[in-house]
Amino acid sequence: MYHAPVLRSESLAALQLRPDGVYVDATFGGGGHSAPILTQLGDNGRLYAFDQDEDARTNALKPEFTAHTGFHFIHSNFRFLKRQLRASGVRPGTVDGILADLGVSSHQLDTPERGFSYRFDAALDMRMNPSDERSAADVLNACTSDELQRVFGAFGEVRNARTLAQACVRFREKSRFQTTADLVGVCEAVVMGERWRYLSQVFQALRMEVNDEIGALRDFMADATEMLRQGGRLVVITYHSIEDRLVKNWLKSGNAEGAVHQDFYGNIERPFEIITKKPLEPSAGEVQENPRARSAKLRVAVKK
Ligand SMILES: C[S@@+](CC[C@H](N)C(=O)[O-])C[C@H]1O[C@@H](n2cnc3c(N)ncnc32)[C@H](O)[C@@H]1O
Repeated sequence: MYHAPVLRSESLAALQLRPDGVYVDATFGGGGHSAPILTQLGDNGRLYAFDQDEDARTNALKPEFTAHTGFHFIHSNFRFLKRQLRASGVRPGTVDGILADLGVSSHQLDTPERGFSYRFDAALDMRMNPSDERSAADVLNACTSDELQRVFGAFGEVRNARTLAQACVRFREKSRFQTTADLVGVCEAVVMGERWRYLSQVFQALRMEVNDEIGALRDFMADATEMLRQGGRLVVITYHSIEDRLVKNWLKSGNAEGAVHQDFYGNIERPFEIITKKPLEPSAGEVQENPRARSAKLRVAVKK
């Protein structure tokens, strides 16, 4: 299976679909969320599905999607949501609902040659969009020790980020990072705690840097806020504490930092009514069936 959709019925319910509404699935993947959305749309409903991955684009060519005349796949980073939707004739302030299910798909993790996983020896790539400039190997070969320490510490919560960054720089003095095995080898000399956990944290951190996942999310939240109509619904599933904090702050205050802004009359600006005071999480049953769902958090808000 390409990807088991996470919190599918919860996110669908949160969108409160109208048959003739305009919707966006910002992270199409295998279409696990798009497919049930389409079944609820009528002939006048529209779904714009984004993904920056070529393999997701191939999935979108399946008849179950193309059979619906209101289905449009946009092969793009979702950080360009507004620009791409406008190019497709969708005006700001007119979208009924936007869903984003962040991170990587199981297909990406389980395809050895994509280089996302420490479980396979392959080129150290990790680009969701292979035509992006920097691969994971480029990041490891070019960043300073301080930059690498920030990546491992902030995105991976690696406890000995400084030691690992220095080990990477020492490796570079004799060789160049090319494969996942090169990185695994460097990690193995400095690993703290359980090996699998340490490697997962390091690989996740690097992936987030290569794909500028936090920068893209920030741009997406700004564009999504503009594209939704009043009463439109934003549904976001995150898998990382930094992502979740960013989304939570944005829904609360309209910016990534959660800074409170007041208008001319002293009213606090709140672009959304928050529906999920606490994020929804997958049930024990879902996590048992699909362990990759375990860190998921779903937040829902309505544009004011
Ligand atoms: C968790 S998967 C989504 C799976 C999908 N909901 C399903 O059920 O099949 C995330 C997908 O979003 C895509 N993606 C992640 N960040 C993206 C971005 N900034 N722009 C566009 N697509 C992105 C990935 O390529 C991946 O296919």
